[in-house]
Amino acid sequence: MKEPLISVRDLRVQFQTYAGVVYALNGVSFDLYPGEILGLVGETGCGKSVTGLALLGLIPPPGQVVGGEIRYRGRNLLALPPAQWQALRGGKIAMIFQDPAAALNPVFTVGEQMELVTRRHRRLGRDAARRQAAEVLRSVGMPEPERILETYPHELSGGMQQRVMIAMALSCGAEVLVADEPTTALDVTIQAQILDLLVDLKRTRGLSILLITHNLGVVAETCDRVAVLYAGFIVETGPTEAIFQAMKHPYTQGLLAAIPRPSHRGRPLQAIPGTVPDGLQPPPGCLFHPRCPFAWDRCRQERPALLEVADGHQVACHLYDREAER
Ligand SMILES: Nc1ncnc2c1ncn2[C@@H]1O[C@H](COP(=O)(O)OP(=O)(O)OP(=O)(O)O)[C@@H](O)[C@H]1O
Ligand code: SF4
Ligand SMILES: [Mg+2]
Repeated sequence: MKEPLISVRDLRVQFQTYAGVVYALNGVSFDLYPGEILGLVGETGCGKSVTGLALLGLIPPPGQVVGGEIRYRGRNLLALPPAQWQALRGGKIAMIFQDPAAALNPVFTVGEQMELVTRRHRRLGRDAARRQAAEVLRSVGMPEPERILETYPHELSGGMQQRVMIAMALSCGAEVLVADEPTTALDVTIQAQILDLLVDLKRTRGLSILLITHNLGVVAETCDRVAVLYAGFIVETGPTEAIFQAMKHPYTQGLLAAIPRPSHRGRPLQAIPGTVPDGLQPPPGCLFHPRCPFAWDRCRQERPALLEVADGHQVACHLYDREAER
């Protein structure tokens, strides 16, 4: 088995707010291997973006990491001096967002912005940086890269802006790309093209991608493995095929039942009864127990750990803990 590139263990993030402590991540653990796309899925507010931001050390105040580890090639990033982590961020580990326009600087041309990042990371001269920028733009499927370098971000479509963001990440030598809902704001055809590009970069460059999405269709078509988040906790993870064919966790089963299918068109979505726990007061025991049809006493008291149920398929649910007595 390959060594993971990124290894997150028991990551805990809290926001100190006037209303009290918001428990955003409650012990997130997963691995990201070289050259794979790992889908991070879950309902709104479950901690997907906070997890992605944590990998780059970009959790906004008043949020802070209060426990756990984020290892990159074996080194715990949380223990690194800030300058060293900053060097990795935007270099080996990069992030793209739902709204690329907000991440690009409106007053500089694409060429100026790309040269800036390339020169900062590679110490190239101006001409070499420009040539390289054009080359990278071509590699992410941009037609006429020399012309694109002269444009301002607002002159490009959302899909092209997202390609520029991906190109910037690549020109800094990114090995890991955290993509937070990168296609949600795009129309369906462009969405598919960007996802194809990500799959292509995984295959040709061995890029590792953490693909954050709430769209299970996107996961099914794009991801090698999936991690399902619920209330800041990974409840199930495994190969995409195993998760879709034999999902084990009651939450994942509910989530998959909620996918709209063509045959269900016109019928309301099958939502999971109940609501996501309040981040201010997460329930004791299994975080899903107030909504779980199978919950029993143990679920209300003891938080389940992730246990392997099949090759590479892990579930955090007492139903699968055979050692324990029911
Ligand atoms: N700046 C903040 N201050 C207080 N709480 C925050 C802040 N940012 C995030 N949170 C809390 O952290 C939790 C996780 O938020 P996060 O943005 O990661 O969710 P998400 O899964 O990305 O949701 P979405 O699908 O809507 O993007 C939420 O409970 C949210 O309220
Ligand atoms: S641990 Fe208990 S409450 Fe939690 S998902 Fe499993 S059965 Fe349901
Ligand atoms: Mg989010």
